[in-house]
This record gives sequence, C-alpha cells and structure tokens, in this order.
Amino acid sequence: MILRADGAQFIRFWCADDVASVIHLYFSDPWPKKRHHKRRLIQDSSLRELHRVLHVGGELRLVTDHDELWAWYEEHAQRHADLFGRQPFNPPESAGPDEIVGTNFERKYRREARPFYAMTLQKK
Ligand SMILES: C[S@@+](CC[C@H](N)C(=O)[O-])C[C@H]1O[C@@H](n2cnc3c(N)ncnc32)[C@H](O)[C@@H]1O
Repeated sequence: MILRADGAQFIRFWCADDVASVIHLYFSDPWPKKRHHKRRLIQDSSLRELHRVLHVGGELRLVTDHDELWAWYEEHAQRHADLFGRQPFNPPESAGPDEIVGTNFERKYRREARPFYAMTLQKK
C-alpha cells in the first residue's frame, strides 16, 4: 500500500502501539535554515512516537547525505539512548553493490560523490 501523507502526523495519529518491525527514513528533507529545524521529521517528540510504534527489537533506519542533518540524528540518538540502541546499518535488498539503500535519490547524487551516512536505531 502507498499512502501520501505527512509522515509525522501519520505515525502520531494513525499508528497503534507496537505495530512495526522496521521504519525506513531515507534522505528526509534537511531543512537547513535554523528557523526551519522544527520542520525536520526527527524531533524529540517524533522519536518517542516512532519508539511507541515499533516492536521491541524493531529498527528505525536513517540515511542522509546532509552533514548537519547527520549531526542532528547523532545528537537525537545520543539523547534518546534510553529508548534506542545503535546497531550497524545493513543495506536492504533494494541496494545494489556499493549502495547503501539504492533509492532514486542515492543513485542521482552518488554521481556527485556526495557523502552518505546511515544509522540503525533499535528499540530497547
Ligand atoms: C529527498 S526526497 C527522498 C525520496 C526517497 N526517500 C529517495 O531516497 O529517493 C525527500 C522526500 O520526502 C518527502 N517528505 C518530506 N517531508 C515529508 C513528511 N513530513 N512526510 C512525508 N514525506 C515527506 C518529500 O515529498 C520527498 O519525496
């Protein structure tokens, strides 16, 4: 099923507790201006919601090519280490050789040799 909706609202208002084994968030908009940081999908509140929706042992998989968004993810992961443990990022089946996830965005910008960052947060 494909749903076109705001991801944070969907998780918050439409998802029951303990229903997901993996949540993929690949190349989310970085909202680089400081006054727009509140629009980033990963926030303290949304991380608690994502944690609520995952099974114990379930994974939140984050990938970005944006240095500052990666730092934001690192800060949030550290701040919520009580909720999630860090695990190695294993490429999904969609990824080809030498790819992280193999989405359109990754394939387009890999040609520009952008850096890619990936983390897996596992619900405790
Ligand atoms: C840079 S694209 C990456 C798309 C895809 N994940 C990929 O790797 O090719 C970012 C996508 O996130 C979507 N998006 C941005 N904010 C969103 C939100 N709050 N809820 C759901 N989708 C959102 C945009 O519409 C866009 O399709």
